[in-house]
Amino acid sequence: MDVRPFWLAGRPATGDGELTVTNSHDGRTVGVCSVPTPDQVEEAVAAADAVRKEAAALPIHVRAEALAHVSRRLAERADEIAHLIMEENGKPLFWARGEVGRAVSTFRFAAEETRRLSGEAMRLDTEPAATGRLAYVSRVPYGPILAITPFNFPLNLVAHKVAPAIAAGAPVIVKPAPATPLSALLLGEILAETDLPAGMFSVLPVPNDRASTLVTDPRLPVVSFTGSGPVGYAIMDQVPRKHVTLELGGNAAAVVLADADLDWAASRVALFSNYQAGQSCIAVQRVIVEESVREEFLGKLVPAVEALVTGDPADEKTQVGPLVSVEAAERVEQWVNEAVASGARVLTGGTRDGATVTPTVLVDAPADAKVSCEEVFGPVMIVQTVSGPDEAFAAVNDSKYGLQAGVFTRNLDLAFRANRELEVGGVIIGDVPSYRADQMPYGGVKDSGIGREGIRSAIADYTYEKVMVLTGLSL
Ligand code: SIN
Repeated sequence: MDVRPFWLAGRPATGDGELTVTNSHDGRTVGVCSVPTPDQVEEAVAAADAVRKEAAALPIHVRAEALAHVSRRLAERADEIAHLIMEENGKPLFWARGEVGRAVSTFRFAAEETRRLSGEAMRLDTEPAATGRLAYVSRVPYGPILAITPFNFPLNLVAHKVAPAIAAGAPVIVKPAPATPLSALLLGEILAETDLPAGMFSVLPVPNDRASTLVTDPRLPVVSFTGSGPVGYAIMDQVPRKHVTLELGGNAAAVVLADADLDWAASRVALFSNYQAGQSCIAVQRVIVEESVREEFLGKLVPAVEALVTGDPADEKTQVGPLVSVEAAERVEQWVNEAVASGARVLTGGTRDGATVTPTVLVDAPADAKVSCEEVFGPVMIVQTVSGPDEAFAAVNDSKYGLQAGVFTRNLDLAFRANRELEVGGVIIGDVPSYRADQMPYGGVKDSGIGREGIRSAIADYTYEKVMVLTGLSL
């Protein structure tokens, strides 16, 4: 099997190690990529630092055209890339195709947003002392971005860091998840077709235990991390003076109130608790249902879960595939067993075959069971019963996490109340918490992280406001 090069300051390179990528469904080797040496990592950082000023001064049309090119090329190669994502991540083709489509949009949104980066003029002659004065407020990149990306969206969550960096005029170094580096490397191939200056991007598949060299390097003032809480907070503790963005996990809740369309709610909860085998930070984990509709809702939910097509991710009809590894599936199985041992009942699922866990619905899980209070990151939901909206909203907030919540209601007052009261970064009315549009702000509160992604928000996050004051003007 050919060894794929990594991207060092915009050009392909090989190092002295290799990383083998396997498909979790059948254990097949699906790719091998080269691993950079410490000297090559240093070269990439030095190149990013050297191009910092040129990157910040890049004309808008150069940035926008590069981003639009990536969007177009992803669309042209969509089928090939979807297969690559399926192979390296185990994500069913159905969802892999969705991810490619989203990445096409993410780069397109970034191209569009770049063309809107005009800064703002602010008249200061609101006070006599500032007569004839005008401020021009623009955004300036802090400098090169270190993007540490997760395995669960190996393309689009890389896109969410790379595209706003280019838009902002900041070089970016991607450290992809060791389980899924191939999509990020393919993105590097497409970025290399653009007119971006050398040094503007590198994709370095270094192992996790070598990441701290990058994290602590003062030439990379911004660290944008998506992944687990313990790793994210360890990064923040390591570099408290850097600008760190953390997109961490959650145990997202879907609230089903008595006035909801129960067919719609059941079908959406069933699908989005189990999409990508539950490996999304906003997969439905806690289902909080109003008592008066509980039995009717469960009567729709359980058959909808059982109807999901589980199996080979390469089959176009598969909706639920394997987890990223057998170890990940074993951990999920263990958490389900622990919950059952402490009183939970399995309404469906609860079994494992290799890396695949059957879509699982639990009731009566104790509040302190891991499936209730930690992030499962697997195809498991717990159903809780509440007397009405007061208890429902309190139950959503009874979590250390706060990424997104979904509320199935048709009552506008309750929608606004949910928006006021729920301690999360996003409230989705009439749908699951798993809804994400790539242009909207995305991120959490509490232990779900700090900072926001979504193109406009991420550009703001990678830049600071700078003011130039013009004096002596006739305004
Ligand atoms: C995540 O897992 O945080 C990303 C979810 C998404 O982009 O849909």
